[in-house]
Amino acid sequence: MVAFLARVKRACTPKPQAAAMKTRKYLVLNGPNLGHIGDRQPEIYGSQGLDSLPGLLTELLGEGAEGIELLFHQSNFEGNLIDRLETARREGLDGVAMNAGALTHTSLALADCLAWIGVPCVEVHLSNIFARTDEPLRQKSLMGKSCIGVVAGFGILGYALAVLALERHNAGVQDKK
Ligand code: DQA
Repeated sequence: MVAFLARVKRACTPKPQAAAMKTRKYLVLNGPNLGHIGDRQPEIYGSQGLDSLPGLLTELLGEGAEGIELLFHQSNFEGNLIDRLETARREGLDGVAMNAGALTHTSLALADCLAWIGVPCVEVHLSNIFARTDEPLRQKSLMGKSCIGVVAGFGILGYALAVLALERHNAGVQDKK
């Protein structure tokens, strides 16, 4: 897995002249009930806890972690998440990898915040929300339209993929038609 991520990273990392030499700062933001992943329904959300995320991300990103500073925040409160996103704007952060948990499906307030702050965001889900046909509400995202993309179904690896996607986005790599 680490070797695979290193290859993905080499393919995705912008060339030195394209990448600004300044440190890029990304916020990994988690919403309600995500503080207990590892214990919470591991058959859906995996067995790794949120506290393992900083170390795992550094490992998964490999050389891709160079020049990147990761900030982490988790809250069970909608307003706190909005405050953190507004702070991200003031701090001039380069992007957010955000798993809003159940608020993804219900929070117009969070969606409104993402729509104006101007900080690129990748929506992350541990589970493949689109495959959760037994609970159709989970297949809908209010925030997705204000994100540059969505990563779902790859567990904790999804946060690393989101950070790589933000790096590529910030380097101006255009691979969409
Ligand atoms: C989740 C999916 C949501 O539907 C759920 O409420 C979560 C986690 C995920 O990571 O798969 O809390 O965002």
